[in-house]
Amino acid sequence: MFDSLVAAPPDPILGLTETFKKDPNPRKVNLGVGVYKDAQGHTPVLASVKRAEEMLLRVEQTKNYLPIEGNAEFDAATLTLLLGADHAILREGRAVTTQAPGGTGALRVAADFIASTLDAKTVWLSDPTWPNHPNVFQAAGLKTATYPYFDKQRNSVDFAAMLAALQAAPTGDVVVLHGCCHNPTGVDLDRTQWRAIAEVVAARGLLPIVDFAYQGFADGLDEDATGLNELTRHCPDLLIASSYSKNFGLYSERVGALTLVAATSDAAATALSHIKRVIRANYSNPPAHGAAIVATVLNDSALRSTWEAEVREMRDRINTMRHLFVETLHEKGVDQDFSFIARQRGMFSFSGLTPEQVKALRERHAVYVVGSGRISVAGMTEGNMDYLCTALADVLTR
Ligand code: LMR
Repeated sequence: MFDSLVAAPPDPILGLTETFKKDPNPRKVNLGVGVYKDAQGHTPVLASVKRAEEMLLRVEQTKNYLPIEGNAEFDAATLTLLLGADHAILREGRAVTTQAPGGTGALRVAADFIASTLDAKTVWLSDPTWPNHPNVFQAAGLKTATYPYFDKQRNSVDFAAMLAALQAAPTGDVVVLHGCCHNPTGVDLDRTQWRAIAEVVAARGLLPIVDFAYQGFADGLDEDATGLNELTRHCPDLLIASSYSKNFGLYSERVGALTLVAATSDAAATALSHIKRVIRANYSNPPAHGAAIVATVLNDSALRSTWEAEVREMRDRINTMRHLFVETLHEKGVDQDFSFIARQRGMFSFSGLTPEQVKALRERHAVYVVGSGRISVAGMTEGNMDYLCTALADVLTR
């Protein structure tokens, strides 16, 4: 039955990690997948997470199923982290949060919910975007299209073109917006731009989905919710797919959430009944461990302040690596201007490397970068910087 199958292409990000793992070069560097590395090149378990796990091990009494919507304490803490504890939406009961297996799982639940309940014709994605976005929405049977986002010449948001595209999008369509730390470009909207986008999305009757995978990695936990705040101010309905993979370092535990905001609490409750059907048909109910960690940390003031300091440390370290990268490239004699990399935010930067240069980096130097030229700055360390920049200098001057 399977004899006639033709192999599917490898995933552009996780497939690269598979190739990286097989590479025998001892100096190899993986700047493909967005995974944080500390100064020793490790992806650590956060101290706040370790302490919460120790506490959980002592008090845990059952491995019984979670409800379909997941851990209630986790859901409530997530909503507060996203919107702030005293947000009017919380008082009005207009938001519901369901636990999901990672940000990707949350996006897929959102996609299945939209496909099964709404009349949306098209899901609009930024150009460029995370390569898995089209897969997730298309797998749910939705059509995807792109709106302009990045101005390559200026290394900034092509705001006029983005706004014009959304102004022309048909009412009822869905628009995916990156909450902060745009993946792959590292270039975000400022508050004024977010406000203008929120006004257009509301005026056109579009449904925004905020992909919020990097809260805390741009400017701070609250600061990074600027766009979300503008959207909630203007748009009665929205979806948020959030993730704890990066800001809790809980990559392998698959902890994320889907939050839905509706115009009324009744509408939110009705929408939740549909989301629960989607989850039940998909994976029944979510895994317990990672969500219990997050709920424990967010609800304990001492653990929470440890965690907030750890998020700050990861953010500061990535920004330090951005500056060190730009300086080291300069020292290696690269005269091309890479100063924009120091101004970008989050784990990623669009380097402007061509596919040929990306290939040469991998084949000649075992430096792994996504084919689009996206570099994970979070994978850079003081230890690999010299090797990395020597390799880049070689490829750029060749
Ligand atoms: C990335 O873009 O590298 C991360 O979001 C990991 C992933 O799942 O692709």
